[in-house]
Parts: sequence; structure tokens; C-alpha cells
Amino acid sequence: MWREKQQNRLSITSRLLRNDQSSLCSITFITCFLHACRKGYEVASKEFDPRDLDVSVVGRSFMITGANSGIGKATAVAIAKKGGTVHMVCRNKDKAEEAKEDIVTKSGNTEVYIHIVDMAQSRKVWEFAEAFKKQYPSLNGLINNAGCMVHKRELNAEGLEKNFATNTMGVYILTQTLIPLLQKSRDPRVITVSSGGMLVQKLEVDDLQSMKGYFDAVMVYAQNKRQQVVLTEQWAKANPVIHFSVMHPGWVDTPAVSTSMPQFHRMMEDRLRTVEQGADTVVWLALSRVASRTRSGQFFQDRKPVPTHLPLAWTHSSAEEIQSFMTQLENLSKAVQLQADADPAGPCRPQFV
Ligand SMILES: NC(=O)c1ccc[n+]([C@@H]2O[C@H](COP(=O)([O-])OP(=O)(O)OC[C@H]3O[C@@H](n4cnc5c(N)ncnc54)[C@H](OP(=O)(O)O)[C@@H]3O)[C@@H](O)[C@H]2O)c1
Repeated sequence: MWREKQQNRLSITSRLLRNDQSSLCSITFITCFLHACRKGYEVASKEFDPRDLDVSVVGRSFMITGANSGIGKATAVAIAKKGGTVHMVCRNKDKAEEAKEDIVTKSGNTEVYIHIVDMAQSRKVWEFAEAFKKQYPSLNGLINNAGCMVHKRELNAEGLEKNFATNTMGVYILTQTLIPLLQKSRDPRVITVSSGGMLVQKLEVDDLQSMKGYFDAVMVYAQNKRQQVVLTEQWAKANPVIHFSVMHPGWVDTPAVSTSMPQFHRMMEDRLRTVEQGADTVVWLALSRVASRTRSGQFFQDRKPVPTHLPLAWTHSSAEEIQSFMTQLENLSKAVQLQADADPAGPCRPQFV
């Protein structure tokens, strides 16, 4: 049993590191991996200043995607406890209503609203964000938390690969569309829940739809999480009024892990963080004054900015690659909007893939 677990551990680590030539990279990756476990949180949290979260956000509103479960729901509870208005963006009505009841009960705050949106459906995301912008006068925080790892290559209504559509395109369209609303709100912040898994990926700009070669969902997911880090850096440069951050919650015991990575979930057992531990840095980035004074665009773990590349890693991108990535997202987003404008009720099939 022990030997089997050790072998599983080694096989997952070597799979994540399969392109890595540098032993320094490997050692650093394993160190980062261990810090991301529950023990790592317990050590890191000894340095947290509890006064950082001694705040009230009554009158401020926060949108959280995937707020019905795991890290998103724990974040919603924490923000509601501080008096904030919570906009839950969820795809499943029943799950959302059940979660809302629990958030209201735990926080005593009734300012919790549900919006049913499938983040994989690009046009629906854009329509929702446009409508939200018209309906609400302000939005102080956007938390891009919803994420998925779909193991088969499937396409959404617009022909985009579903992991990319949810983890990258949904985040891009939602954030980009809400930027004008955030800009006119007080102390605006955007936090995106990425993953330390992105450290093993270099931004890939020639195959955003994962059409080439073998479809490895773990690597596609890690690529999407790298894309979120690059996006955050670019948004921070382009929008100085808003504070952008992206973060790694650590390895957390949630349905996403138990269903998408059952082998990893079994292997980690009680080393996984609780959802509250996973949500801690999201909440700190969304609410604390200290966080808003950090440089915009950084990658955080356990309330600290951390490097986005392993030492000596091959994962750095050129300015041209980053520009190409941003242009492709902009073009895809425009295609979704043009299609919606031209045919608001009809089937959505932009010609971009
Ligand atoms: N848990 C970890 O160890 C870990 C590590 C690194 C990063 N993360 C990231 O943390 C974030 C939250 O995940 P979690 O671990 O808390 O898992 P979770 O409990 O399964 O939560 C994921 C949430 O995302 C929602 N979601 C997925 N696809 C969606 C879509 N197309 N439209 C709308 N909502 C969608 C899920 O909705 P349903 O309930 O309807 O499925 C759920 O509410 C994700 O971005 C994940 O990549 C997690």
C-alpha cells in the first residue's frame, strides 16, 4: 500500500516535470508543492497579521464565480461575514440556492444574490456581464474562481475547447467587460484563482484550442492557469486604477480535486488544505488594505507575492508571444460579441476556429 502510494506520488510529480531539464527546477517545484499542502499553510499562517482582515466592507459588492462550492463558497462566506454584498455566479440553480442558504446562515448577511451563468458559454458570459454593468452602479471586487478540468476534448457553442473556454475565455470576457464598472467603483480589485500547477507550463500561443497532439487535460488545465497569470500581468499594466492579483490556493480538499484528479486526491489524503485555508489568500487579496498596497499584477501564495517561474525555468515568454496571446483573446472576444449583435436569438457559431 505504502509502496503503491509512493509510486503514484512519483508518477504524478514526474509527469508534471516531464519537460523539465533542470534539477534545480525540480527541487524548487517539489518544495513549492510541499508548501502548498496543509502543513505549509499552518507554517505560513503563523506570520499572518489577524488585523489585516479586521475590516468592514458593508456597502461594497463582490462577484464570485463558482461561489456554490469549495474555495469560492468559503470566500463568499468570509466576505458576507464582513458585511459585503455577494454576487454568486454559478451554473447550477439548485446547487447555487443551497449554497446561498448556507452562506446567509453562516454570515447572517442577506445581501447575497445568485446569477446563473455557465462560464464555458462565451456568449452567455458576455451577455451576463453587459446586463450586470447596466443594472448595478458599482462592483468593488471580481473574484474569478470558477475552474474546471474536462478530460475529453469538448467544444462549447462557439467551437472553443471547454477548459480554455471556462478557465481563460470566460475569465477574459467577464473581466474585460466589467472593467468600466470596476473603474468607477471604490477600491476596485480583481482576483483570479490560478494554480501552482501553471509553473510547469510556458505560455503556448500557437494552439489555444489544444488541437495538436495528445489531449492531456492536466497539462491543458495548467496551461490555462499560466494564461491567467499572464492575463493578470497584462491587465495590471493596462488598468492602473484597478488592483489585479492572481493566486495559488494550495492543494485543497474540494469536489474539483476529488472528481477531476481522484488519484491525486487519494494520494494526498489529509495533507490537503481545508476550503477556508484555500480561500484565505483570496479573501485577504479582496479585503485587506495591505493587499491593495502591493504592486498590481502579482502572483500570491499564503498572502505573499511569489515568483511566476521556477529558477532557470524555460517558461518565460517573449513580448511578441504575450502580444500574440492578447490579440487572439481580443479577436475571439470580438467574434463572440459580433455574432451576438448580429443574431441575438439565433445559434451562436462565430467563424474563429
Ligand atoms: N482545490 C485545489 O487544490 C485547487 C488548486 C489550485 C487551483 N484551484 C482552483 O480553485 C478554483 C476553485 O476550485 P475548487 O477547488 O474550489 O473546486 P470546486 O469546489 O469544485 O469549485 C469549482 C467551482 O467552479 C464552478 N464551475 C466549474 N465550471 C463552471 C462553469 N462552466 N460555469 C460556472 N461555474 C463553473 C463549479 O460549479 P459546479 O459546482 O456547478 O460544478 C464550482 O462552483 C478553480 O479555479 C481551481 O482551478 C484549486
